[in-house]
Amino acid sequence: MKSIRSRFLIIGLLCLATTVFAQKRQAIPEVEALLKKMTLEEKIGQLNLLTPGGGVATGSVVSKNVEDKIKSGNVGGLFGVAGPEKIRQAQELAVKNTRLGIPLLIGSDVIHGYKTTFPIPLGLSSSWDMELIKKTAQIAAQEATADGINWNFSPMVDIARDPRWGRIAEGAGEDPYLGSQIAKAMVQGYQQEDLTAENTMIATVKHFALYGASEGGRDYNTTDMSRVKMFNEYLPPYKAAIDAGAESVMSSFNDVDGVPASGNKWLLTTLLRDRWGFDGFVVSDYTSVNEMIAHGMGDLQAVSALSINAGLDMDMVGEGFLTTLKKSVEEGKVTEETITQACRRILEAKYRLGLFQDPYKYSDSKRPQRDILTDANKAIAREAARKSFVLLKNENNTLPLAKNAKIALVGPLADSKNNMLGTWAPTGNPQLSVSILTGFKNVAPQAEITYAKGANISNDSAFAKKVNVFGPRIEISEESPEGLLAEALLAAKNADVVVAVVGEATEMSGEAGSRTDISIPDSQKHLIRQLVKTGKPLVLVLMSGRPLVITEEMDLPVSILQVWHPGIEAGNAVADVVFGDYNPSGKLTASWPRNVGQIPVYHSMKNTGRPAPSAEFEKFKSQYLDSPNAPLLPFGYGLSYTSFEYGKLSLAKKEINSGESLEVQVDVTNTGDHDGEEVVQLYLHDVVRSLTPPVRTLKGFEKVFLKKGETKTVTLTLEPDDLKFYDGALDFVAEPGEFEIFVGGNSNATLKEAFTLN
Ligand code: BGC
Repeated sequence: MKSIRSRFLIIGLLCLATTVFAQKRQAIPEVEALLKKMTLEEKIGQLNLLTPGGGVATGSVVSKNVEDKIKSGNVGGLFGVAGPEKIRQAQELAVKNTRLGIPLLIGSDVIHGYKTTFPIPLGLSSSWDMELIKKTAQIAAQEATADGINWNFSPMVDIARDPRWGRIAEGAGEDPYLGSQIAKAMVQGYQQEDLTAENTMIATVKHFALYGASEGGRDYNTTDMSRVKMFNEYLPPYKAAIDAGAESVMSSFNDVDGVPASGNKWLLTTLLRDRWGFDGFVVSDYTSVNEMIAHGMGDLQAVSALSINAGLDMDMVGEGFLTTLKKSVEEGKVTEETITQACRRILEAKYRLGLFQDPYKYSDSKRPQRDILTDANKAIAREAARKSFVLLKNENNTLPLAKNAKIALVGPLADSKNNMLGTWAPTGNPQLSVSILTGFKNVAPQAEITYAKGANISNDSAFAKKVNVFGPRIEISEESPEGLLAEALLAAKNADVVVAVVGEATEMSGEAGSRTDISIPDSQKHLIRQLVKTGKPLVLVLMSGRPLVITEEMDLPVSILQVWHPGIEAGNAVADVVFGDYNPSGKLTASWPRNVGQIPVYHSMKNTGRPAPSAEFEKFKSQYLDSPNAPLLPFGYGLSYTSFEYGKLSLAKKEINSGESLEVQVDVTNTGDHDGEEVVQLYLHDVVRSLTPPVRTLKGFEKVFLKKGETKTVTLTLEPDDLKFYDGALDFVAEPGEFEIFVGGNSNATLKEAFTLN
């Protein structure tokens, strides 16, 4: 075993000191002057975030008497209200009616696009295209700010390794390295270089922290994990977002080490501010302060005091801060200085946005028409969607289809608009989305298409009722299941090829969308089995907000194109790929399990002391009796209409010194019949170290375009930090010794080299 050398500790401490130093910003004189004028009540008012109904904006009434509260200086920000005029009115209430005229933060959940809805984040991540992801965030900011929003509750960067958890849809999947790159791209897209610009908004990294690791994949559930696992596997994307300059952080619902995140001082102060140097503001999640009562942490006054003392600055909706903090100050449970500090951070954010100079800067009534739902934005939505699709199987190269084919287009999602946008798209309008049927007609007008629904998404009306809370997602037809099926089989009989659009309705994933059975619902499985029996070539266009269990379907003679929930341009993008105008290039960013019993299953698991044998079964090994250990589809997996071959892998050096980077080169050739893109992936294995290493873990990737027949040499550079991990003392170190590198088109890559770190 390697020893931890003191020089690494010293370097680690130096790095830590510089990070903290580099990020702390100067006090803002205007904010300091304002704070001096403020009463305790006015400061507490700034810590209150409400979502209006009635007075200021139409919509669901959640917070009461919002208008009066703004006028009396009891509101620091609003969310759930939009439109330049409404925002102007809201700002006027604050600016013209309160003693100090402090403008409001205007928040929103712009998770994957504002009105131009992009694919769900798990889909976007499957593009492995950082420039594209950044561009989608930039467009989201352009549109949202045109509608008055200055503060976004995104990116959601929770690492998720349990596809039962519905909110896996909202993030970038299982891997901290990829997740960190995406976190950075999104923050840069939302905030860009200049927060005072009219088309940028504050990014909020959420949900801090570990929300994606809730036990059993049940939403809002407990999390519990060791510090080393946290630091190495779950915290990196939050840190990457903060290092990229995210101005705001949202605390999560779950507890961490037994203390809910919203009241967890270790999390919100020791780690976030003292260790990482974050100096923006922290907002709670929706009533997460109040929920600490149910967690068993005390009454509203106690949990509010706990939260502000822990480092939480703003209370979302719950009004615990508003109604109890003054009393806590009087009773000596919270100091006024603590409240001043929280208020300072919120005022600084407003200052950085330029709201003090011009509170109405996001209230230009000409902007929505100019900036929202433009053709250019929709073109990016189409590009993002088609790049997010993952070809899981292409039986007999059925895909792409000829544009003049005779097609039976069937399935409950084939002519749906309500399910195209995906979860957490509250600002999008499903009726503006392009259904798959319409997309097919747009892209292949010569094709002869017969549509039949074939099945309901689910026949279980009790289940449908739960899914339909936000509107009709699972529409159970009046017609009997047998009647629906008969129509589809008839269409199939008369067609050259069958395309079945099947999978999950949008609200079958997302917040409060956890499931214990993550296979395709029975009604649709039945349809698929019957279609297979027709003997016609069958393409499944599969929609979902999570990895599904499709073990049965992978064994059938079918092709499968995974399209997630593709967003506003759904049908056009699906048709682009199905008819070959775009060659699919997406790769999975979370492993797809064979069965629910395998969960969690992810590429960077550890070897254990008794690894399963690769060939014959042996007793007393780390394995199941009834299932292999490997997932059905590995992280990084995805096919193309063409094929790629990996040639020579070479390292610039076989030995490097601490602090040096290492160039890795590989030849990749397009050996098939189509031009196409490949995501070249690099995995690292630290052979021996002071904490058991993962068998391999992603440390580099590049998406390359290759014309048919073309070979390119791809260079991936391992930076010094890529060799580091958080050791038992939570120092970020690289330990000398041997490292193995695997390069290829998914996490099972076999091309291998090794080097030594001195
Ligand atoms: C979600 C957050 C969201 C907030 C405000 C909560 O329920 O967990 O992700 O930002 O609501 O809408």
